[in-house]
Amino acid sequence: MIPSSRDDAFALDRKDPLARLREQFDLPQEIIYLNGNSLGPPPRRALRRLRETAETEWRHGLIRSWNDAGWMDLPKKCGEKIAPLIGADPQDVLVADSVSVNIFKLAAALCKKCAGAIAYHADEFPTDGYILQGLSHLTNTPLHRLLPDADQHALSDDVSVLIKSIVHYKTAAVADIAAWEDAAAQKNIAIIWDLSHAAGVISVDLKKHGARFAVGCGYKFINGGPGAPAFVYVDHEAAKDLRQPLSGWMGHAAPFQFAEAYAPADGVSRFACGTPPILSLSALDTALDVFADAPISEIEGKAKKMGDIFLALSADLGLENISPPPSERRGGHVSLKFSHGYEVMQALIARGVIGDFRAPDIMRFGFSPLYLSYADIWDAAEILSDVLRSEEWRKAEYAIRGKVT
Ligand SMILES: Cc1ncc(COP(=O)(O)O)c(C=O)c1O
Repeated sequence: MIPSSRDDAFALDRKDPLARLREQFDLPQEIIYLNGNSLGPPPRRALRRLRETAETEWRHGLIRSWNDAGWMDLPKKCGEKIAPLIGADPQDVLVADSVSVNIFKLAAALCKKCAGAIAYHADEFPTDGYILQGLSHLTNTPLHRLLPDADQHALSDDVSVLIKSIVHYKTAAVADIAAWEDAAAQKNIAIIWDLSHAAGVISVDLKKHGARFAVGCGYKFINGGPGAPAFVYVDHEAAKDLRQPLSGWMGHAAPFQFAEAYAPADGVSRFACGTPPILSLSALDTALDVFADAPISEIEGKAKKMGDIFLALSADLGLENISPPPSERRGGHVSLKFSHGYEVMQALIARGVIGDFRAPDIMRFGFSPLYLSYADIWDAAEILSDVLRSEEWRKAEYAIRGKVT
């Protein structure tokens, strides 16, 4: 299964049912893009849609486009397209705001309903912890910081809300949703799942496992564009008695009645707040159509295979793999530790292999199956090997840090 030559990698590509999707993406020829876990590249049709939304709907349709071009429906329409990727009912997903803001709205609504502590793992993506810290400060809710490796048995009885990633942003380890939800049900804990690194690359069955609350990114594996709005999932039964604190007019049952009193819309729609970003939403709406041609189970299978191949090809380079081994389930990226990981990543980027770096010493390589080939993986591993063996990364320019790593 691990190619032993570039020709072997091409042979895998010839048999790959997803290979046909690559032409749907507008990626520069000379680049091997291993960063779809941070920012997905543009599907060609999303670029066309952006142009059309700006030049026709905005320029000519003007205000009329809120009705005529269906702008008002885009947050729900995008949610309906995300639902099958995460195993949710279509009416339970809404696109709105950022992941951070959605965590705040959900955690605050849940906190209000079931008094108790809020909890997160210490190594969770920072914004998840920061938002809970802010909420705890605002409401005096006790905050529990769990050890990175704490499992579901570590949840104490006073916890009422837990935030947890399905795919860990550093290691790409995949959480056992069923086991966590079972433990949470016994202790009456609401889990908010962060699907940022899972949606669009691994198959997730929220409803089947009893998960009722989730948030996730639109700009990573879903390819919705830089700063694309996020999604929020709330089971419709659970939504009934939740009142979210950012009760803006777009989450009102009838925003254009301009009533003085707030009355929440049904279901997840009450998690909307202000006017939706239409340019971003239209790109996201069209980007999601790529998934209509690609079953998520096939996507996960190819991502795993590419990760396994990359790990095998770079096994003897002196890097420490902190991602799950081939025998375990993994998200769409792998992470390799190296003391000069930042410099190595800059040298790779200069050679056209784009991944990213997470302090203090982690190089992340994302394997989106929609536009990457096995030959890309072969070439990327060769270039990584070359950069390390030649010590090209020692050039002074590669130590200069940008704002975004
Ligand atoms: C797991 C996770 N949660 C949340 C975020 C950030 O979300 P946002 O910037 O949309 O608030 C990221 C960004 O990379 C992430 O990886």
